[in-house]
Amino acid sequence: MPSAHLIFDETGDKVAKRVTKMRSSAVRDLFAAATNPDIISLSGGMPDVSLLPKSAVQKATRAAWDEERAAALQYGSTDGRLNTKKVIIELMQAIGVRTKPENILLTSGAQEALDLIAKTYIDPGDIIITEGPTYLGALQAFSAYEPDVRFVEFDEEGMRMDLLEKELKSIGKNNPKLKFLYTIPNFQNPGGVTMTPPRRRRLIELAEEYGFMIVEDDPYGRLRYDGGHVLPLRALSDKVVYLGTVSKVFAPGLRLGWMVCPRSVFAKVNLVKQGTDLCGSAFNQIVVEHYFTDTPWEKTLQKFVRTYATRRDAMLDALEKYFPKEASWTHPAGGFFVWVTLPKYVDTSSMLSEALEHGVTFTPGDGFYNDGMRGKNCMRIAFCYETPQNIEEAIRRLAEVIEERLELYRAFIEAGAIKEN
Ligand SMILES: Cc1ncc(COP(=O)(O)O)c(C=O)c1O
Repeated sequence: MPSAHLIFDETGDKVAKRVTKMRSSAVRDLFAAATNPDIISLSGGMPDVSLLPKSAVQKATRAAWDEERAAALQYGSTDGRLNTKKVIIELMQAIGVRTKPENILLTSGAQEALDLIAKTYIDPGDIIITEGPTYLGALQAFSAYEPDVRFVEFDEEGMRMDLLEKELKSIGKNNPKLKFLYTIPNFQNPGGVTMTPPRRRRLIELAEEYGFMIVEDDPYGRLRYDGGHVLPLRALSDKVVYLGTVSKVFAPGLRLGWMVCPRSVFAKVNLVKQGTDLCGSAFNQIVVEHYFTDTPWEKTLQKFVRTYATRRDAMLDALEKYFPKEASWTHPAGGFFVWVTLPKYVDTSSMLSEALEHGVTFTPGDGFYNDGMRGKNCMRIAFCYETPQNIEEAIRRLAEVIEERLELYRAFIEAGAIKEN
């Protein structure tokens, strides 16, 4: 099964050129398989909303209806309700960012913010820089506007600043084609790695020196299982565009995200958003207001953290126990994902159908690049959704599939048919 496929064939539909380049996300394709109860899914990044207390969700939803029905059912302002922004201000303050309502734009999830930024800033051929690999939803959003995406590798300390500097030198200072750098500094998707404070400071310096905007995407920042909080890039510079969301700390079904950005960015993106959806859902904004003011949401967040930490530990222990010595993987201190690297000759996309036969899914690595070349020997495995027992069983099954592949390749190498890495 290919990890991502072109969705338009030769039907003669007169679609725009940009659409012919769009790819369906392998993760979305895998959702169908993931509904089979015999299959353990390590593919999607779905938060476990069953951990939410029913009473809290009921209370927030009921309040939206009982107390603010008229506003909840009506159109609202494009940038969102002031009361919701007040809640966001509190959430931002808790992670070290001071901001004001006029710098906050509410969006339909962080995903809409990614699309709006791309729509506002990218002309075909413009350069954007990102960690490689990166969140495939961001690549989907950006690719509609046909940018030239430059990937910069990460290690366990986040995006490598030496490689970024090399890339920037080749692009040149104040190059009008370089539009922005997109980063997920906390528990990166798919890498699981976190950018260290010195690298964050260096990134801010480089943005000043070379003249580019930073887009900081932070859906997982509050889901930290070890170590102390690291200040967001936005806390270091108010030129940074910060993207937040309630998807992983409350519920993705509400589709509520936000941008914290300079006024100049706000004005443009706000205008672009008018053409996209006029405004976000007032009903959902009100539910979010009540959830974060009238319920013990911090206790629920602790429950999320404890549960995901146990699942992360189960995955890391199982990887140690079952995976072959040729594999390496990241050790996330939070978030949802582990990134696994296998020998260069293994193609994880072609392993997916075998994995399904063994009753397990993962996301092949090449979907997290957009060049169809890199990441082929890698995979993202998510620990957010399954129980620790299922995670251990899934890793055991996956190890079997990988071992079969490696045996095959070892035989080819011995026979001299292919060269070792
Ligand atoms: C890095 C990253 N950014 C953005 C999103 C989208 O978040 P939302 O549900 O707020 O649209 C996700 C979802 O998984 C993500 O992992």
